[in-house]
Amino acid sequence: MITGTTRFTPILAHPCRHVRTPGVFNAECAARGIDMAMVPMDVAPERLEATVAALRGVENLAGMVVTIPHKAAVAALCDRLTGAAEMLGVCNIIRREADGSLTGAMFDGEGFVAGLRGQGYEPGGKSVLLAGAGGAAAGLAHALAGAGVARLTLANRSAAKAEALATALSAAFSGVTVDVGPMDPAGYDMAVNGTSLGMHAGDPLPFDPARLSPGTLVAEVVMQPDVTPLLAAAAARGCPTHKGLHMITAQVRLLVDFLL
Ligand SMILES: NC(=O)c1ccc[n+]([C@@H]2O[C@H](COP(=O)([O-])OP(=O)(O)OC[C@H]3O[C@@H](n4cnc5c(N)ncnc54)[C@H](OP(=O)(O)O)[C@@H]3O)[C@@H](O)[C@H]2O)c1
Repeated sequence: MITGTTRFTPILAHPCRHVRTPGVFNAECAARGIDMAMVPMDVAPERLEATVAALRGVENLAGMVVTIPHKAAVAALCDRLTGAAEMLGVCNIIRREADGSLTGAMFDGEGFVAGLRGQGYEPGGKSVLLAGAGGAAAGLAHALAGAGVARLTLANRSAAKAEALATALSAAFSGVTVDVGPMDPAGYDMAVNGTSLGMHAGDPLPFDPARLSPGTLVAEVVMQPDVTPLLAAAAARGCPTHKGLHMITAQVRLLVDFLL
């Protein structure tokens, strides 16, 4: 029930039709008896700065959740960044402090790793191919390195972004081999789509399922559709799969906790 005491948290996206976070966020708040609610806000990139500036002045704003395409741009609008957001320069949540200042954080990676573990898969010690180097993929790479994967290979359309991310992670996680390679999942324990490919009908697959080794876990960040063409192709080859929905379900508790 939304009342005059409810604190609100928009999710800023463009477009916003695909977002599934409001449903799980509001269910989490309801289950825990927390008087907070999320609404989707479709904000074009050229209106992002003005929108954040206006929201900053709203007294009952708990914060903002941020998704594609705003994760990097919004980090520059925060007064401070914490944890992975500080290292990566991207954030997916902002908390409005009592003085109206904005603290940015990044939970995509922690949510992804928690989602894997919630499904009984431990990434520690595994070899991982991660497709993508955007906001979500950077968070995943950071959390997978923190979870102690043995080897992390980054593959991205814009190779320079993957190179820069690999350099930063290698410096921060000396026990993990981080490299940049081709979009070839052959021989990895886990192959992850961290790109936005699969959201739209007709998107190419991020990598060739025919190159998957038997037993490779194929994981998604894309959560709409529920079963992406990549997951369907991997399952057809007999590979275990892991949906994007697991990531947001595991992450939403962390997002709500950050705003309390
Ligand atoms: N399940 C969850 O909880 C969860 C949470 C957060 C995000 N997501 C999903 O994660 C996806 C990515 O979001 P994001 O915030 O990381 O977006 P982003 O920062 O815009 O990054 C997009 C990534 O996809 C790549 N890409 C886009 N179009 C491509 C194409 N045609 N060919 C090859 N690569 C392409 C980009 O490569 P370049 O660097 O070359 O542009 C980049 O690596 C979205 O689908 C989002 O909904 C899911």
